[in-house]
Amino acid sequence: MDNKKTSDSQTIFQNKWDAELYDSKHSFVSQLGTDLVELLAPQSGESILDLGCGTGYLTNKIVDSGAKVVGIDNASTMIEQARKNYPNLIFEVADATNLHFTEQFDAIFSNAVLHWIKEPEKVIVSIWQALKPGGRFVAEFGGKGNVKAIVTAIYQAIQAAGYPINESKNPWYYPSIAEYGTLLEQAGLELTFAMLFECLTPLEDEKGMENWLKMFADSFLNTFPIEQQMTIVSDIEKQLYPTLYKNGIWFADYKRLRVIAIKN
Ligand code: BEZ
Repeated sequence: MDNKKTSDSQTIFQNKWDAELYDSKHSFVSQLGTDLVELLAPQSGESILDLGCGTGYLTNKIVDSGAKVVGIDNASTMIEQARKNYPNLIFEVADATNLHFTEQFDAIFSNAVLHWIKEPEKVIVSIWQALKPGGRFVAEFGGKGNVKAIVTAIYQAIQAAGYPINESKNPWYYPSIAEYGTLLEQAGLELTFAMLFECLTPLEDEKGMENWLKMFADSFLNTFPIEQQMTIVSDIEKQLYPTLYKNGIWFADYKRLRVIAIKN
């Protein structure tokens, strides 16, 4: 994904699908998903799709169970890195809203990805098609209220810098249990478990919030002049410092939605 450039072709924001940056600074996203692999409870011999596999960390954890796993991601940079990290595993570039597999899977797993796709109905139809009857869908992603403090601070800082709020620049879809459960059930996937929970998540270091904003929140800010981008980031940090900075570490106010659904 390319960043839009400012009028003088500068941006402080980076490509969020820069696989090396992701592995070095934001690997916590995958590491947090280890619990979700336990919930998936993969069995030896099962066929499993890892939807939004990133650089392959959790795909490899699932493979440890003896399951046959295919990892997919729509970012070719992530798939290239995943293939380098785990040369013996299967990874493909694919679009979650439009999956085309000839064989169906026993389970579909997805961690920290679905909040990036603003067409949940299409993803759910794809998941239904790719699952065997009785197959399970196990996912975790940002739920209603995810990074609320950060988004509020972003909007306030943009306004303080003299720009209007443009909601369409918000890249995320954060549904409630009721909203997502309804979509699943409408598509023929029976919701058997759902949990929306707060998950205050430590970021890497003193620059954690700045790096997080650069990696994930670029779409809000990358059209502004470079000096304004820096002013806005400092303002966001100033606002969040009292609540999300503790003992030298920044935290993100994640709120995760975890679901299990079974294909009828
Ligand atoms: C999340 O995992 O909830 C998340 C990650 C990046 C940006 C926004 C949310």
